[in-house]
Amino acid sequence: LAGKLADEDGFEVFAVGGFVRDILLRQPNFDIDLVAEGDGIAFAYKLAGVLGGRVKAHHKFKTAVIILPNGQRIDVATARLEYYEYPAALPVVELSSIKMDLYRRDFTINALAVHLNPGRFGLLEDFFGAQRDIKDKIIRVLHSLSFVEDPTRILRAIRFEQRFEFRIGGQTERLIRNAVQMTFFQKLSGTRIFHELRLIFDERNALRCLRRMDSFALLTHIHPNLTLDDKLIKYLEELESVRNWYRLLYEEPAAQSWIVYLLGLCGHLPPEELVQIAGNLGFTERQRHDFLALRERTGQALGKLINWSQSGEPLSGLYFILHELPVEGVLLLMAKSTRDQVKKAISVYLTRLRHIKLEIGGADLRIIGLEPGPAYGRILREVLAARIDGKAECRGDQLA
Ligand code: CTP
Repeated sequence: LAGKLADEDGFEVFAVGGFVRDILLRQPNFDIDLVAEGDGIAFAYKLAGVLGGRVKAHHKFKTAVIILPNGQRIDVATARLEYYEYPAALPVVELSSIKMDLYRRDFTINALAVHLNPGRFGLLEDFFGAQRDIKDKIIRVLHSLSFVEDPTRILRAIRFEQRFEFRIGGQTERLIRNAVQMTFFQKLSGTRIFHELRLIFDERNALRCLRRMDSFALLTHIHPNLTLDDKLIKYLEELESVRNWYRLLYEEPAAQSWIVYLLGLCGHLPPEELVQIAGNLGFTERQRHDFLALRERTGQALGKLINWSQSGEPLSGLYFILHELPVEGVLLLMAKSTRDQVKKAISVYLTRLRHIKLEIGGADLRIIGLEPGPAYGRILREVLAARIDGKAECRGDQLA
């Protein structure tokens, strides 16, 4: 359809970027990126009109996003025709605009385009050897200034390398080391680094990305003293398997990976240094508050958890400790617990206990003639504890 509409107006339109890469890699990707060799914004309006979507246009960049009724997004960019004048009176060259558009991108594997116009539908344009790099599993930049133009690409290179189990090419790796040495990465704003870090933390293999960052001495941009030692790596491995386990079980409520990993990485640092990290990464007021509060609350809960595990108290005791925390805090504690029995109890909490609700409330206590007062809270808590421990009995074999 997009190709047909472009054909009507006499220009080419392409699917580009990660969408094409992931087709070749046979990976799911629902983010569609289009490039039009014509007025991209006008094209976006036309396409949205037919598909019944809305358009958000950025006139400055000649780009638009179409948002379809089902929430699916289609990015549309405009590829401009560019003229290059060679020195020494050679003729002015008109480069195909899709080629120029692709040349500005980060890595060869992201610089593929597929024709969508009916005459050439499905034809792949590979100007820079992307198919070869995909076959050889290599992340390679298109030109030597790529990381200077956009240092966030250093973190993107690491993310794609670990996600696809590729390796960063030799020359590209040298360019990264140069860019770090020449302090280009350091010039990025905290907000931009944090944005890329969040994408890394959302990866299934986030820890491998962090180890790779460490090998480029990039963790020091989160905090000057941050390096990965064996103890921290062991804890983060545990944290990652807990996070991945939770993510497999529950889409909602989603655990926010950034807070889980950042507290996993930096939770041992004193509070004033955490405040510094919040500043280095340009946290919003809300993020800063959540980050610091969760550190504080998990610290307190850990003490209670240790007491609980040594006291032989029933599961309801654990319930009341964990119920105070957001799920991110529970995951951090689960990873911290060295005793298998405590880990199992926390997993029972996450899978079963946290959903338990009482069928009675204050109104029922009033019906049986109890005067409203502080006793209500105590009674309801005891009923809840009985429910939980009743449940616990039938799961005792699993906990043993
Ligand atoms: N891109 C780039 N330089 C950047 C960011 C993006 O050149 N710093 C280009 C790449 O060609 C990329 C496209 O813009 O393919 C879209 O970027 P993004 O939305 O991040 O998408 P994906 O490459 O699909 O990444 P992901 O699979 O993580 O969504």
